[in-house]
Amino acid sequence: MINSALMNVMTAAAIKAGRGLKRDFGEVENLQVSVKGPGDFVTMADKKSEKILFEELSKARPGYGFVLEEGGVVEGSDKSHVWHIDPLDGTTNFLHGLPIFAISIGLEREGQIVAALVYNPATDDLFVAEKGAGAYYNNRRIRVAVRRDMAEGLIATGIPPLANAKIHPKFKAELSSVMTRAGGVRRFGAASIDLAYVAAGRFDGYWERGLKSWDMAAGLLLVREAGGYVSDADGGPNMLTTGGVCAGNEFIHRQLLDLLKKA
Ligand code: IPD
Ligand code: CA
Ligand code: CA
Repeated sequence: MINSALMNVMTAAAIKAGRGLKRDFGEVENLQVSVKGPGDFVTMADKKSEKILFEELSKARPGYGFVLEEGGVVEGSDKSHVWHIDPLDGTTNFLHGLPIFAISIGLEREGQIVAALVYNPATDDLFVAEKGAGAYYNNRRIRVAVRRDMAEGLIATGIPPLANAKIHPKFKAELSSVMTRAGGVRRFGAASIDLAYVAAGRFDGYWERGLKSWDMAAGLLLVREAGGYVSDADGGPNMLTTGGVCAGNEFIHRQLLDLLKKA
């Protein structure tokens, strides 16, 4: 496990925000059958989670900046530290009562992600990593899967939502390319969890385009600290700015990139 002051701060904030999300998730089931539906309620749950994370992390690390999905960029006095936070990744799953969602917190220091946390309060799954200290799932060290053959690999992806329909043609071409070679393809609906599952060896690989820094900052470090490779979806190093990700062990990462290139 990671027993640093920083990780204690991140974990405490996530558990506190997660308690609210878990309670609200229970309520969402009842709202499915209401005339109004659970939409506004979920927006509130999202905002409440972000408020708790912002308050707790600001208290513990004054001066750090933030990139928040809901609140946008909050400049800090300490220019070398920035939190990238998704207070509820997998909103659509949450809205539909599917227990695949997470709080995602990544800490950037001098341009590098140095600490990561992905927490699913519905299942109590906690994934953490710190640069140079390894990646952990509920206090157990995790490693990426060892499979080298794409035909045995389980590959995760994200289908661009309607709001990002302009990249649908590219996604369809890439999916066609990958599905002809991979053992199986999954779409779980929470990028932070997709990356955490690559880190834990559950998925062999993962790619997606059109993400934001808060979706992936934590997951990227989890994969790296679990011994995996990450790049953007074209093999470049700037995932946070291009919004593309390709991840896996050394072998699957390379094969997946090749398939994306051929698409
Ligand atoms: C989304 C999820 C999804 C991914 C989308 C993201 P949200 O985040 O991570 O898996 O495909 O691109 O926007 O909206 O649920 O926080
Ligand atoms: Ca997200
Ligand atoms: Ca979100």
